[in-house]
Amino acid sequence: MELNLITEHVCKISKEVGLFIKEEYNKLKKEDIITKSQNSLVTYVDKMAEKKIIDFLSRLIPDSGFIAEENTSVKRSETYNWIIDPLDGTTNFIHGIPNYAVSIALIHQKTVLVGVVYEPNRDELFYAWRQGGAFLNERPIQVSSTKKITNALVATGFPYYDFERLESYMNVLKWLMQNSRGIRRIGSAAIDLAYVACGRFDAFYEYSLQPWDVAAGALIVMEAGGSVNDFSGTENYLFGKEIMASNKKIGPKLLQEIKLAFQ
Ligand code: IPD
Ligand code: CA
Ligand code: CA
Repeated sequence: MELNLITEHVCKISKEVGLFIKEEYNKLKKEDIITKSQNSLVTYVDKMAEKKIIDFLSRLIPDSGFIAEENTSVKRSETYNWIIDPLDGTTNFIHGIPNYAVSIALIHQKTVLVGVVYEPNRDELFYAWRQGGAFLNERPIQVSSTKKITNALVATGFPYYDFERLESYMNVLKWLMQNSRGIRRIGSAAIDLAYVACGRFDAFYEYSLQPWDVAAGALIVMEAGGSVNDFSGTENYLFGKEIMASNKKIGPKLLQEIKLAFQ
């Protein structure tokens, strides 16, 4: 199947599941919230959403495998795997904050082929396929054209369980407070990346993320003309637990500061 067609199918299931998540919010009870580990929460909504996605995708590409946050399938493939975060922004979801998203990517070995991020509360569907461009609700999108970091709005995610590199992280944050237009912490890495892709944010960086937080969004950024790398400037951002994304213009300066702090 062509990548654009696969993307269409993935868009369909992302929307369906996004709307399911939104509806379930009104039924959520305190006892539905389970703590997986420090500050990592899950509900039956995350799990049901993931099952719905996996059920649909296993029929779309029957031999494909899954790398999915809630582990509702452990089937892996040597070739094609889906990387799924059924609900990116669970803490927001639980607290009634509207920023959360469904994030689905298809990879072939380590190359991302398709990426879809759907934000149900804004009805915004971001998607891209390799060498096909990036789109928001059917319109092509591009990263911003901001040239100077002093004019840049930068997104990040605060460390919440892995505090080993907190000091380095804080040094970058301090530098950005003094040298950028501002910093935002939305609470969903998938949305942060999608917003870099459409030019709302000029850059994003975070450490200790998992592949399901970044796979879809990273492809969307690259297809929108941006760059994505780890904190050393290499391409190991999918499984390497460090990611920096930007419009290509302010990337080098931000990377320089990140390298300085994290070396
Ligand atoms: C989280 C969000 C958040 C980021 C965390 C992720 P989850 O994902 O992407 O923005 O800071 O590191 O774990 O747990 O809500 O799927
Ligand atoms: Ca996530
Ligand atoms: Ca999640």
